[in-house]
Amino acid sequence: MVVSERHYRAFLDSRAGEGLRRSLLAVAAREARTILSGDRSYINFSSNDYLGLRFNETLIDRAAAWAEAWGVGSGASRLVTGNLDPFAPIEAKLARLKAKPASLVMASGFQTNAAALQAILDKAVLGAEPLVFADRLNHASMHFGCQAAGARQIRYRHCDAAHLGELLGRYRGDDRPKFILTESVFSMDGDVAPLGDIARLARAHEACLIVDDAHATGILGEGGSGLSSEADIAIGTFSKALGGFGGFVASSETVRDYLINRCAGVIYSTALPPPVLGAIDAALDIVPGMNAERAYVAGLAERFRAGARAAGWDTGLSTTQIVPIVLGTPEAAIAMSGRLRQAGLWASSIRPPTVPPGTARLRLAFTAAHQEADIDRLLEILAAKDASPRARAV
Ligand SMILES: Cc1ncc(COP(=O)(O)O)c(C=O)c1O
Repeated sequence: MVVSERHYRAFLDSRAGEGLRRSLLAVAAREARTILSGDRSYINFSSNDYLGLRFNETLIDRAAAWAEAWGVGSGASRLVTGNLDPFAPIEAKLARLKAKPASLVMASGFQTNAAALQAILDKAVLGAEPLVFADRLNHASMHFGCQAAGARQIRYRHCDAAHLGELLGRYRGDDRPKFILTESVFSMDGDVAPLGDIARLARAHEACLIVDDAHATGILGEGGSGLSSEADIAIGTFSKALGGFGGFVASSETVRDYLINRCAGVIYSTALPPPVLGAIDAALDIVPGMNAERAYVAGLAERFRAGARAAGWDTGLSTTQIVPIVLGTPEAAIAMSGRLRQAGLWASSIRPPTVPPGTARLRLAFTAAHQEADIDRLLEILAAKDASPRARAV
């Protein structure tokens, strides 16, 4: 065994000892509501396919047609020969949806945050190390981008605009470029940042506001536009409510041009493949007209929250289609996930370091593919005598 392998093995063993070791499980899906594992079908409460578009015929047909027409790969990065004709109309549609002057599509949402933030926070270009104010619970990909840029983050308390204001105040008069980074809907909590207050602070302190709109685009906001209208730069993904794959930045033309010239994720990575672009294009056509589905999903989430809270579960500050049940220890989260699985319901446990220590949870996500009876079944299992928080407290 090479020396490094011993260290990797020790890491894995220590993770296992804390109940935090992860592993991959093969599953299958034939439609958006359920997931197949082994020889059993489960109702899937752990999918980000909020509008059920993964299996939508319009998306599938266009993906297939574009594979036929353009091939299954794009052959090169966009700056070489991968910038196929479909990119320009897609980016125009996306800019319209996000109400921004321009947009730029690249690989996954993770890559977009990692690579675009590295470029946006580049101190060599900005002339000084930027002051980056960031919500404490921002997604790992945002931290990754800050780290890649060598930018120290000044963390404010989760969704706490007053704390952000206090921290900004400490740097009043400091003429280094300022940035505020936040998610709109937080991926593990389903709560929403106080974006109006944050945007006001951004303007007052001449800070650039960057909002990761991954879990709002398509499912929240006017016509599914998300919640980033007040952001200077919106980042997002096509892999959640838009059903497919890929990441994007919606911004000014200048920021778009800058990223084409400075963002490693654009310059050194092969352009998205045509079938993926076909699915994105079709999703952008139909998502603005899906108000009924958005209202339906909101109703399901509300039905679940009301039932779960009445039964004594801690659903945090969720107000969206994402609802956590905070259980505390990894063991408790794993046990509850297992109990639901026995009943034919799939809700993955989420453990540190994805969430802060002591807040291991189930993260439930409701989608247009679910039925009201699915929610009721979930509540029924959670209310079972030996499962409910009241029973456990006795
Ligand atoms: C807030 C946030 N940003 C970015 C990402 C990454 O997006 P993608 O899955 O497209 O890489 C995720 C998904 O996990 C997310 O929750």
